[in-house]
Amino acid sequence: MVKVAPSVLSLDFSKFREQIETLNKHADWIHFDVMDGHFVPNLSYGPKILEEVKKISPLFMDVHIMVDNPKDVAKWFIEAGADLITFHIEAVKDYQEAIDLINYIKSKNVKVGISIKPKTPVFEIASLLEFLDLVLVMSVEPGFGGQSFIESSLNKVKDLKQLKDDNSYEYLIEIDGGINFETAQKAKASGVDVLVAGSYVFNGDIKENIDSLKWR
Ligand code: DX5
Ligand code: ZN
Repeated sequence: MVKVAPSVLSLDFSKFREQIETLNKHADWIHFDVMDGHFVPNLSYGPKILEEVKKISPLFMDVHIMVDNPKDVAKWFIEAGADLITFHIEAVKDYQEAIDLINYIKSKNVKVGISIKPKTPVFEIASLLEFLDLVLVMSVEPGFGGQSFIESSLNKVKDLKQLKDDNSYEYLIEIDGGINFETAQKAKASGVDVLVAGSYVFNGDIKENIDSLKWR
């Protein structure tokens, strides 16, 4: 069964507790988009938000960091209680920096993922796949919610699924950006394990919207 990870970037913060409690009943993970205004042209929130959510939610905390200094930011969110840290391969200079960051996150007993932007091919991370708990395929240019789904990202999902099956790798495949009822069907058919959804989940009936991604 596919997991649903609503992105709190689209949460209505004036209804913070009410909406988090609804996620607690119907979602599987909570997705945190951390933006630094450099790696992406937007700013989101710091570790304090994660600490506050963890006070009222037992769900798995899926932290997606879109920042130029991933090691520093990973440290802050690990201390705030992240269960998974996903950094961007485009934010590290080489293979060794990626491996060092993977080992650092794992040394804190936190799961680790790598994300690739729409223009970054899967082969850029092929040599790292065996070390990962998760691969996050961006189906929009990172930085904002409410954008349209980029169809070509489905090919990357299929490639990652094939590589995983051929090599018995253990990573989960997560997709993020422009997920709604239609694009979720295509993503599930391509082999994703986790669906991130922001605007689709929080616009309207949250329970209905989450269920529509999961079941049908
Ligand atoms: C974008 C973020 C996404 C975004 C998804 O950079 O990584 O998680 O919040 O929002 P929707 O589902 O509205 O595209
Ligand atoms: Zn995200």
